[in-house]
Amino acid sequence: MGWMSVEVDGSILRNNLRAVKSLLSPGTAVAAVVKSGAYGHGMVEAARAFTEEGAEVLAVSMPNEGVELREAGFPQPIILLGGFFLEDAEVVVKQRLSPVVSCSEAIDALARAASRCGERLGVHLKVDTGMGRRGCGEDELRDLLDRISSHPELSLEGLLSHLSVADVDDEEAREYTQQQLIRFNSVVEMVKRAGFRPRWVHIANSAAIAWYPKSHHTLVRPGIVLYGGLKGFEEAKEAMRVASRLVEIRQVKKGSCISYGRTFVAPRDMLLGIVPVGYATGYLRGISNKGFMVVRGRRVPVVGTVCMDLTLLDLFQVPEAEIGDEVVLMGRQGEAGVSVFEIAEWLGTITYEVFCLLGNSVFAERRWIEPA
Ligand SMILES: Cc1ncc(COP(=O)(O)O)c(C=O)c1O
Repeated sequence: MGWMSVEVDGSILRNNLRAVKSLLSPGTAVAAVVKSGAYGHGMVEAARAFTEEGAEVLAVSMPNEGVELREAGFPQPIILLGGFFLEDAEVVVKQRLSPVVSCSEAIDALARAASRCGERLGVHLKVDTGMGRRGCGEDELRDLLDRISSHPELSLEGLLSHLSVADVDDEEAREYTQQQLIRFNSVVEMVKRAGFRPRWVHIANSAAIAWYPKSHHTLVRPGIVLYGGLKGFEEAKEAMRVASRLVEIRQVKKGSCISYGRTFVAPRDMLLGIVPVGYATGYLRGISNKGFMVVRGRRVPVVGTVCMDLTLLDLFQVPEAEIGDEVVLMGRQGEAGVSVFEIAEWLGTITYEVFCLLGNSVFAERRWIEPA
């Protein structure tokens, strides 16, 4: 075992995909978002689980991820949500990836590359309806459609936008999301009126899939829900379990200062457990004096400042603990557990970030399991 193990339960990911599919009408397909190492879960393995359960499309960020999926044998459409650097246009064409475009430079670069390769390529045009990130303005739409039509090598395969607050549960956010959906509907109408029939029309992320059924169109793009990290959606479960082991146990006297910055002073004689994980392995310093881990089926508090590669535990609850015992950072052990939602709360962040940090840690030894 390395410093830390990351175990992913493929059967849970499969169930999560099925839970998403059960919300969709028959005319809506799934683009499973497996970018960034499937949010730390392992891109190729997760893509296999999702496609075997019926995801018709995959979505990644940049071309290198698409190439990795092609080399692993995935024939499905692969959408490049993040885009591509112009010099990589030929890779996009040769690997039959589906780029998201929202500017004339990208469209022209793809057309030139397709022409050089003697190929045709479908592109997805992205419109900004209020996310304020990638996407053309609604006033640029007509020009970009004309631009795509002017290149015989290109066709409009998809039309998309992205929501910024679909996961926020308050009235203002719901109103904003409704406005984005209305704007997107009018974009879809305009594109149709202009004579285009894109096969894939998509705006719904996980939260919209769960709570805005009218957002589904012909394709949805679930990410976080597939990994069990969408708050309030109990049908999907967490599949990632992160563990390490006690590397040392020591007694310290009442009044001893514990770790950097002396942020914790022992209130009594204490038994400290030492775990070789820390912010270098994705267990961030913000967890200092806030978090819990699980040892011998009981939750024990993190005490003192989390270091680069060492974290300290108060073993008061488990005096029988021994060096080498498994310590669970996230996931379950016996009756006890720590959820991704708790860790996100300790850090004042979102579940996405916790999965990415721990799951993609270069120090993790990865294991994929598929219990029957
Ligand atoms: C363009 C786009 N679509 C879909 C997703 C998936 O979002 P979520 O994980 O909230 O379902 C993302 C994730 O960041 C994204 O950037």
